[in-house]
Amino acid sequence: MKALITGVAGFVGSTLADHLLQDETVEVLGVDRLTDYYDVGLKRANLRQLTHPRFSFVEGDLNSLDLRDLFRDVTHIFHQAGQPGVRKSWGADFSSYTVDNVNATQRLLEAAKDLSTLQRLVYASSSSVYGDAERYPTLETDRPTPLSPYGVTKLAAEHLVSLYAQNFSVPTVSLRYFTVYGPKQRPDMAFTRFLQAVDRGEEISIFGDGQQVRDFTFVADIVRANVSAATTEVRPGSVFNVAGGSSVSVLEVLDTIEKVSGKPVKVRHLAAVSGDVRRTGGSTHEIQKALDWAPEVTLEEGLARQWAWVQKERV
Ligand code: NAD
Ligand code: UGA
Repeated sequence: MKALITGVAGFVGSTLADHLLQDETVEVLGVDRLTDYYDVGLKRANLRQLTHPRFSFVEGDLNSLDLRDLFRDVTHIFHQAGQPGVRKSWGADFSSYTVDNVNATQRLLEAAKDLSTLQRLVYASSSSVYGDAERYPTLETDRPTPLSPYGVTKLAAEHLVSLYAQNFSVPTVSLRYFTVYGPKQRPDMAFTRFLQAVDRGEEISIFGDGQQVRDFTFVADIVRANVSAATTEVRPGSVFNVAGGSSVSVLEVLDTIEKVSGKPVKVRHLAAVSGDVRRTGGSTHEIQKALDWAPEVTLEEGLARQWAWVQKERV
């Protein structure tokens, strides 16, 4: 396998690269623009940890790089690059969501359609395509109705991915990740913020009443889903939920945080934020059937691993 990972300096991309490099038959080419959505120092640290004879890195923008040249001999593309973050996607920030999620994906697909060595392109889609879903657990065939501008761009890009499968037989699979957590989680996401606050003895900020429910998914399970999606025979254009099976409210998570950290949790409530859905919960029936994937890491175990990472990284 010669794998290309876009967004390799980020949370999921760097964790996936680290995993793939453990297989000595795999070569990894990573690309990332090192956007300043969060501290670029964290992305550089992720890249330093990937120093390896079978790893090479190109710093650049998918919207301007010569992708055909970059892609030469690539057999698998893991498209993790994008502008994440549900709550910041309103107002003037929206243009970075269209440019980095929609335009960049279209440009990547144009180059991928002419790549004769390509065996699979895996796209990091999102549970945010569902918005407040029709039902729970939500099926891949339920009507997507995003609630945030971010979700609109992730869905638009997912449609593009499927179009290139239908029209040009690009061998794609889209994985709808449900709130990913674990070591190296982005600093704007809930668990990193919560665990850092507990570590410092500070208050945790909860948006709204804290009754919003998420199907939190541990990053190693996301990585395994990517590997299965890349290596299992499957219909081009397939779309699967990747959900951790832990539909719990934000307030319920706090009990688990007290347990794994052994420290008291102090909370303050802030206003609810537009675009935040009330509940996510994905059916994993389809991915179990097609890719033989099921989540393995429980919320308590995953949070304990993220807590250990937060303490190790403490400055
Ligand atoms: P991240 O921000 O840590 O990583 C994304 C990386 O993409 C960043 O390092 C950024 O610099 C890079 N990037 C952005 N635009 C680029 C461009 N035009 N060219 C090159 N590089 C570019 O985010 P993450 O949490 O690792 O998420 C990875 C992917 O998974 C994203 O596409 C995100 O939408 C999707 N996703 C994440 C979650 C989650 O809970 N983390 C859930 C659902 C979907
Ligand atoms: C996450 C990612 O950030 C998105 O990129 C991704 O696409 C999405 O998952 C997804 O599943 O598709 P989100 O669920 O908002 O989005 O993830 P967190 O930032 O971990 O937030 C989880 C919950 O905690 C949210 O309801 C949020 O309102 C709440 N929260 C977050 C707080 O109460 N306080 C905080 O400081 C941060």
